[in-house]
Amino acid sequence: MKKLSIADIVSKKNREKIVMITAYDALFARLFDEFADMILIGDSLNMSFKGENDTINATVDEMIYHTKAVKNGAKNSFIVTDMPFGSTTNVKQTVKNAIRMYKEASCDAVKIEGGKNISEHIKALCDNGISVVGHIGLMPQKVRLEGGYKIKGRGENGLNALLDDAFAICEAGVFCFVLEGTLSSVAAEISKQVPVPVIGIGSGLHVDGQVLVWSDMLGLFEEFKPKFVKQYLNGATLVKQAVKSYKDEVKNSLFPSENFEYNK
Ligand code: KIV
Repeated sequence: MKKLSIADIVSKKNREKIVMITAYDALFARLFDEFADMILIGDSLNMSFKGENDTINATVDEMIYHTKAVKNGAKNSFIVTDMPFGSTTNVKQTVKNAIRMYKEASCDAVKIEGGKNISEHIKALCDNGISVVGHIGLMPQKVRLEGGYKIKGRGENGLNALLDDAFAICEAGVFCFVLEGTLSSVAAEISKQVPVPVIGIGSGLHVDGQVLVWSDMLGLFEEFKPKFVKQYLNGATLVKQAVKSYKDEVKNSLFPSENFEYNK
């Protein structure tokens, strides 16, 4: 598959669904590269790779390290790197950190969580020649503040609040954005009203594309399974079965059998 340009991605709006998947290393990025339009080095790596309870203490250095690894494996996908919590506290710092990601990790775009509150940062990034993917709706970096992962778009003002955020980040310059954990009807309306592709996660079908965390969709992350996650593989069970077979064969002196020895 040919690597998409930003213009290609934008042109998919209302035309063809965009496939985004996360990856954190070269091994899996190489496997996903054939199928993904976009690969996201998400700060979710802090949970499924590093084993922390949330995304909060992922660092810029870690995002750069994992992006370099993904880039070694993925040659054709458009690469997006998350700006982690604490890397966007003021505009100057946001630009400085994003420039590091661009230069050291060579990502194609950065992703930044936030709506109206972050639009000035997005504009500054675009003014500095950095392409930006937005992220509104449920924002995992707010998990401690909000006391959990809360679905968005509910209540009288649900749609309008999200539309305000969506329009603000579009005006600031994002070329697409992630809409997470939002009522499907609300997500459909937002997608209809904005000029750029909306990539949903837990936001239903009526958006311009989907993103899933790779370890969730392959059934490897066992800590919890949100309702929106479809497991396309029973990964944890398959891995455990394989490692148990290895253990049993080693314990019973069945591995390595003749086929796996050097005799000459
Ligand atoms: O960090 C991440 O993997 C993300 C996705 C959930 C969109 O932001």
